[in-house]
Amino acid sequence: MLTNLLSIDDLSLEDLMTLLHRAEELKQGSKSILTKKYTVANLFFENSTRTSISFQLAEKKLGLDVINFNPQTSSIQKGESLYDTVLTLAALEVDAVVIRHTQNEYYKELLQNSITCNIINAGDGSGQHPTQCLLDLMTIYEEFGTLQGLKVAIVGDLSHSRVARSNMMILKKFGSQVYFAGPKTWYSSEFDQFGEYKALDELVPEVDVMMMLRVQHERHDANESFTKEAYHAQYGLTKTRYQQLKETAIVMHPGPINRDVELDSELVEAPQSRFVKQMHNGLYIRTALLETILHNRA
Ligand code: CP
Repeated sequence: MLTNLLSIDDLSLEDLMTLLHRAEELKQGSKSILTKKYTVANLFFENSTRTSISFQLAEKKLGLDVINFNPQTSSIQKGESLYDTVLTLAALEVDAVVIRHTQNEYYKELLQNSITCNIINAGDGSGQHPTQCLLDLMTIYEEFGTLQGLKVAIVGDLSHSRVARSNMMILKKFGSQVYFAGPKTWYSSEFDQFGEYKALDELVPEVDVMMMLRVQHERHDANESFTKEAYHAQYGLTKTRYQQLKETAIVMHPGPINRDVELDSELVEAPQSRFVKQMHNGLYIRTALLETILHNRA
């Protein structure tokens, strides 16, 4: 029974398919099944637009009481730890917390009996981004009706990307063939177990899904920089590469996009791009996830 979502690996195939199915029902206008009033707190220690706002809208759709915790005006500024903050929220009868944090696996220290809130990971450092992964899977599933046997390229800033880590794990687990491309300096042998590194131009005409990753300047050392133009020419989705994609292939990006770096700016809303659909699906998969976790709390 799903009670927390910390890593995408927490999900069985059954959990995943139930969430995807429920998200589609909600997208078609199905109403919340929650019968109690729950309180959820959103704690974002890193900046966010998509994840933060889609969780807030999902919470409104479910009729929840919502606390938007602001680290800048909280007792975090007096040195209070994340653990003591969540312990406080649990004592104040908050049912679930949605947390984004800079520290990888921040959630491990929160798994204590006195922390009675359910925990949803909205991104931990370069660790995991399970709800981005769910909206990506929903988008792929809507397009192809399966994950089995699809060829998926994950391209770009792999080593700093929690989106890449979550996606490579679950895509491999559910039968997709995963490939990687991008700067070799951002590839790690830890990825070998999930897929195969290839040259981008070899992958472009072959794959069903071209998943471009954001270049995460904020996580880079000074010596990791490329010029915008050099990165785009070598590792970006240029118009020329876009024209070489299979007609049925789709282009994805978790956002925010560095336009003309990962993708030519004119391709962001191109016919084979699913960027806008991914963001739209994020609202419904997060509604389905919150509903499931709170319903299981009962
Ligand atoms: N994809 C994603 O997590 O975007 P935000 O940082 O805007 O939430």
